[in-house]
Amino acid sequence: MRSKLIDSISESASMKMGQIARERKHISDLINLGIGDTHFPTPVKIVDKTYNYMNEGKTHYDNGQGIITLREAISRYLAKRFNASYSPNEIIVTPGSKQGLFYCLFLLIEPGVKVGLFEPTWLAYVPMIKISGGKPVFCSLDHNMFTEKSLKELEKKNVNIIVINNPTNPSGKVWTSKELNLLVSFCLKKNIRIISDEVYNEIVYDKQFISLGSFESIKKTLMLIGSFSKTFSMTGWRLGYVCGKDHYIQDRLLKLQQIVATCPTTFTQYALADTLEEGLTTTRDMVTMYKKNRDLLYNAFKKTPLKPLFPDGTFYLWVDVGEDGDIFAEKILEDLHIIVVPGRDYGIHTQNYIRLSYALDTKIIREACRRFENAFKK
Ligand SMILES: Cc1ncc(COP(=O)(O)O)c(C=O)c1O
Repeated sequence: MRSKLIDSISESASMKMGQIARERKHISDLINLGIGDTHFPTPVKIVDKTYNYMNEGKTHYDNGQGIITLREAISRYLAKRFNASYSPNEIIVTPGSKQGLFYCLFLLIEPGVKVGLFEPTWLAYVPMIKISGGKPVFCSLDHNMFTEKSLKELEKKNVNIIVINNPTNPSGKVWTSKELNLLVSFCLKKNIRIISDEVYNEIVYDKQFISLGSFESIKKTLMLIGSFSKTFSMTGWRLGYVCGKDHYIQDRLLKLQQIVATCPTTFTQYALADTLEEGLTTTRDMVTMYKKNRDLLYNAFKKTPLKPLFPDGTFYLWVDVGEDGDIFAEKILEDLHIIVVPGRDYGIHTQNYIRLSYALDTKIIREACRRFENAFKK
């Protein structure tokens, strides 16, 4: 039975911390830095438009690929912002990017296929790969950089598919052009397909984000994953997309979506099609706030013996705590009333890490900093 396969996948550290947060709701000064969501509300314009479209009756099944006006808006957006050209026909709107990712893995993986992941990486890929019959294979980076040394290691792993997450959850890494070029040439040479999860493409601070969608050479086999969850603080709306130029695969992906979901939610798509471009102003305000929070949290940790990695994007801080992350997380929940995610599920050498989210009000971040600094004075 397939349910046995699901049983074999253990509860993730972030799900466990979510459960703990619900159980400890009564603790009045509890700070939850464990969730991958943001405290910002969805921009009012998107909400208002949605109401209008619901009242207008856009509440029925619609195009399985996503409505054409939204696909056109995404096509313009990707070209303008990231020099990634995809025609509306090459875009499939999905109910959240997670579902799009799963479609890609499910379609591309043959039993036993090895799928390469760079450590640390988002914890949801491993169960998705396993459910699809593949074998997740972790490749180390070289001091968090993809270098000739990491390439040599990757070469030995004989992977058939690579999932890259740029900017990276949990480390906040933003891949440079040199790193991406190295990876692309290798994948071209070895005939390796890339799935590029770029859902944090707008949440970048000092560095420039480069989309793999702008690399013409790899376009044929690349599957580009995007989402509006983080960009417009609309995680509960479930709107993502998959772009691809391999029309054989895209056709099958659409067929799969029609079989399992029929289409993405209709009224949310209409609302976003109207507001995608202007909505980015709100995103800029959010990113300014995240940057301030990042600096506060990173600097607070620098004053302790714990070792934070400087994040160039996303809204996470990845910290080497020098001891078992699960034990550390339990300790600070008890002593500081702060929830963080233990690092164990983000790789195979990540047990001594924790991940914190700073997508919260700055006042809360300041309070968390105060507690950490007091508790871990150098
Ligand atoms: C790296 C990464 N990819 C994909 C997702 C899923 O986002 P969505 O809400 O679009 O399904 C997340 C959510 O946390 C994420 O961190």
